[in-house]
Amino acid sequence: MIADETITRVGPVRSEAYLDLVQMLTGVGLVAFMWVHMILVASINLDLGGGRVMNAIAHFFEATYMAQIGGPMIAATMLVHFVVAARKLPFRLREQKAIWNHSVSFHHQDTWLWVVQASTAFIILIMGSIHMWTVLTSLPITAAKSAGRIQGGWWLAFYLVLLPMIELHVGIGIYRIGVKWGFIKRANRTALHGFENKLTLIMIGIGLVSLLTFLVLTKA
Ligand code: HEM
Repeated sequence: MIADETITRVGPVRSEAYLDLVQMLTGVGLVAFMWVHMILVASINLDLGGGRVMNAIAHFFEATYMAQIGGPMIAATMLVHFVVAARKLPFRLREQKAIWNHSVSFHHQDTWLWVVQASTAFIILIMGSIHMWTVLTSLPITAAKSAGRIQGGWWLAFYLVLLPMIELHVGIGIYRIGVKWGFIKRANRTALHGFENKLTLIMIGIGLVSLLTFLVLTKA
């Protein structure tokens, strides 16, 4: 009897830990992808919008089939990450109201960070999927094609929403992984949180400069 109770109590806790591990590993993979992705897109700035560097990088990824295989793998990783994280997301209005009321009464910064993390997750899943579908179904990637999209206006507006959403999600995500898995301790918490904020701002800055280059300098 005691053994049975122990099993029922230990079982779910252990599977929760495994699910958290999957969430963390897929999250770290996606953070790494996002940073590399933003830097690769920023290659448009290297020849002041000329597009030669970006086209060469895009050609390399397509000739080696990394875009064709890696793209769907990123989409699948995003889906797994969302499904695993979804067990803690408030889908119902009643749950959302409860989380909001708790957050208001807690007055705790990290609780608000979680609210930002959860709300950006929904937006990123939808907008990230639309973006990946658009880019991957119109290969090859070229600077001219990207510039054409952005100069059209709608995609510029789309990226101006998606860019801060993804960078906030990534920045907060990496900070929360640090806190949850014990890399960030009470002593270094404030400093590392400050570092995470600066990194988020830098990545948003890099993204905005690239968008401006596509908009103004690159020939569509
Ligand atoms: C393998 C998958 C992906 C590929 C091949 C890819 C490719 C690209 C390309 C070529 C651009 C330049 C703009 C354009 O052509 O429209 C771009 C921009 C962008 N992508 Fe992706 N992308 C991928 C995945 C993602 C994901 C998963 C996200 C976020 C959820 C994302 C967020 C963005 C953002 C925010 C921009 C604007 C760039 C900036 O401000 O510098 N991308 N991507």
